[in-house]
Amino acid sequence: MAPIVDGVSHGVAGHRRCREMARTLLVQAATVMFAGAAALALQVQTRQPQAAQPDTSAVTPERVELGRAIFHGQGTCFACHGQKLEGSQIAPTLMPP
Ligand code: HEC
Repeated sequence: MAPIVDGVSHGVAGHRRCREMARTLLVQAATVMFAGAAALALQVQTRQPQAAQPDTSAVTPERVELGRAIFHGQGTCFACHGQKLEGSQIAPTLMPP
């Protein structure tokens, strides 16, 4: 009788140990996933300030007007890029994406 009881109790204990191992593995997997997501978020955060920002300090309304005059006048840009920067069969649009 004793060996059978022993066998049963061992089986239960083994099963419990197996479940504990599975739980540990699951926690570890979740930790790795969380760490990965955190690392990715960090990367995105550190990449954003590195993106070169154009220096717009010299852009004044006068200069914008001057550029517009050149675009529609002497520069003849409008001929290919369109009156409203819409582009044509020759040239691409100059509108921001
Ligand atoms: C004879 C036709 C023509 C005229 C005039 C012209 N362009 Fe263009 N432009 C083009 C073509 C064609 C391209 C595309 C070139 C390429 O992709 O290699 C282009 C590309 C550009 C681009 C890049 C667009 C992009 O999204 O990559 C800018 C900016 C631009 N032109 C500005 C101007 C300005 C400013 C003028 C006037 C000073 C002007 N163009 C006059 C034909 C013209």
